[in-house]
Amino acid sequence: MAKLSVNICGILFPNPVMSAAGPTSRDGAMCQAAARGGAGGIVTKTVSVKPADVPRPCMAEIKGGFLNAELWSELPREQWLEREYKLAKETGLPVMVSLGYTADQIAELAPLVKPYADALELSTHYVGNDISPIVGALRAAKAAVDIPVFMKMSPHPNIQEIAKAVETAGADGLVMINSFGPCMAIDVDSGLPLMGSREGYGWLSGSAIKPLAVRCVYDAAKVVKIPIIGVGGIASGRDAAEMFMAGASAVQVCTAGILKGPGVYGRISEELEAFLESHGYADVAEIKGLTHRRMAEGALRTIPDALADALGDVPAVDQERCNLCGLCETSCVYQAISSSGHLVIDAGKCFRCGLCVTRCPKEALTLPGRD
Ligand SMILES: Cc1cc2nc3c(=O)[nH]c(=O)nc-3n(C[C@H](O)[C@H](O)[C@H](O)COP(=O)(O)O)c2cc1C
Repeated sequence: MAKLSVNICGILFPNPVMSAAGPTSRDGAMCQAAARGGAGGIVTKTVSVKPADVPRPCMAEIKGGFLNAELWSELPREQWLEREYKLAKETGLPVMVSLGYTADQIAELAPLVKPYADALELSTHYVGNDISPIVGALRAAKAAVDIPVFMKMSPHPNIQEIAKAVETAGADGLVMINSFGPCMAIDVDSGLPLMGSREGYGWLSGSAIKPLAVRCVYDAAKVVKIPIIGVGGIASGRDAAEMFMAGASAVQVCTAGILKGPGVYGRISEELEAFLESHGYADVAEIKGLTHRRMAEGALRTIPDALADALGDVPAVDQERCNLCGLCETSCVYQAISSSGHLVIDAGKCFRCGLCVTRCPKEALTLPGRD
């Protein structure tokens, strides 16, 4: 069996799939449900000095993604300190306590939650893209506690700059990314925004943001040495593997936990294990940063057109797998694909864009050099 346990900053996670800060950890009972569902660690819902006044509606599934306007915990911190953190701790899993947002607020909250926390996760969600308040919040936490402090990053445009600054200021790890926004969706029957927030704004999560999250982790991993926990759109073992390859040391899951229920953590973890085994890896650590290594080897081929033509370098078709469903043919804007009993790709017309390979539901097409 492939090894899934990971040790991050001296904290042992039995598997690398945690429940992220959100409604799936909105109180102690939900943290316990996540543990029963197979999570390898728990991140509690972000708590700040005052309970959040959460607008309603505050969650919606949209095509390809998810919108929320949930802010932070609507429960008072006293309730977390008296009851919810203890229930989270009873899971026996590592508990990362999420706190927000300013240096003053963190300085006030961090000493109070320390007895229940294996680590702190600080949210920068409502702080903006300026480095100084983010670093200020981190310094306040580091001064207040001696447990590892992780900085949860929003998808900042200057992600490398902030990641580096936070590492230099003493962060023990990074968690990225928070949901992306502000975004907006409108219910066309009523003409009203789907979210009940004052401006109608919401924040995007789920599969729509996975490529953004993967890119942020990939870019941050280039400039920092501290561990990165990847979050954003993970719903399967292959998604988790992708995040590891970008440089993550573990992953968190929020939207898939909402949409599919708490059993999703265990399923993702099992799928990750099956993926590792089927690809000959003995330990999840072996795929951490794999894409950085492959790119450094020059493994990404960018063959000039003339050479590609000479090689007839078009996607290979496994005719046995192909069921002639027509998806690739319909969406081939270069009109290079045709079928008459079997699939044919015209090397003279094929632009090598790669779209057909990603659309094939039968995995019957393979890009040259990638099988
Ligand atoms: C409804 C909802 C509430 C969330 N609340 C928090 C929160 O309190 N603190 C936080 O740091 N992130 C919060 N997040 C962000 C998630 O932890 C996560 O970073 C983001 O949704 C991307 O991961 P996902 O695509 O797996 O959901 C929330 C996300 C959603 C969808």
